[in-house]
Amino acid sequence: MSEDKRAATKVKCSNSGGDRHRWGDRDEYRDFWASRAELAATLVPDRASILEIGVGLGAFRALVAGRCDYLGADLVPLDEATAPLDVELDPLPSGTFDFVVMLGVLEYLHAPEAALAKIFATCQRVLLSYCAVRETQAEVVAIRRERGWLNDYSRADLIEIAERRGWRLQQALPYNEAPDFVQSILLFECASQGLDDRRT
Ligand SMILES: C[S@@+](CC[C@H](N)C(=O)[O-])C[C@H]1O[C@@H](n2cnc3c(N)ncnc32)[C@H](O)[C@@H]1O
Repeated sequence: MSEDKRAATKVKCSNSGGDRHRWGDRDEYRDFWASRAELAATLVPDRASILEIGVGLGAFRALVAGRCDYLGADLVPLDEATAPLDVELDPLPSGTFDFVVMLGVLEYLHAPEAALAKIFATCQRVLLSYCAVRETQAEVVAIRRERGWLNDYSRADLIEIAERRGWRLQQALPYNEAPDFVQSILLFECASQGLDDRRT
């Protein structure tokens, strides 16, 4: 990533108090996010062990319930089944997972690279959605900040971040787009892991 791009990828320095307020309000969650969860769930095989970070209303959880070994966590748990977790500040739950799933979360992190590094250490695959920038023009960044997004990676930036840590992009599914973003479901895997299903 260029220094310019790094500079453009400003993170807003604040504690997550405001985030907690937002995500504690069910009206902040959008019904159409369920279709993103549906797309992501197609990439998860039966019997996979999953840690989902950012459960929200539980759309993804409902899709894998009964066919996967699932643990859900969120900054603001909205139900008793979800563990409290700030992925930026807290240690991740102990154990290793086939998948860590994070849908619509990375955009809201103050230090996403540090969170990804922590996540990469605890699983074999990371399935996430991200609204990547097409270009980091000031007006685009302004729209993203209005949305509450705190970072501005291109898809190439995310791939570079992963590759620096020995991970690679295994699959990408387009989801939606707008002038300030192109959103995809991205499946990363540890480069030293084969694609063979190790659960057989
Ligand atoms: C846009 S919502 C997405 C919810 C759900 N994944 C979906 O796709 O419907 C963002 C979610 O990320 C959670 N979140 C935000 N910051 C977080 C953090 N630092 N640690 C854990 N979860 C966080 C919020 O509480 C919220 O549930």
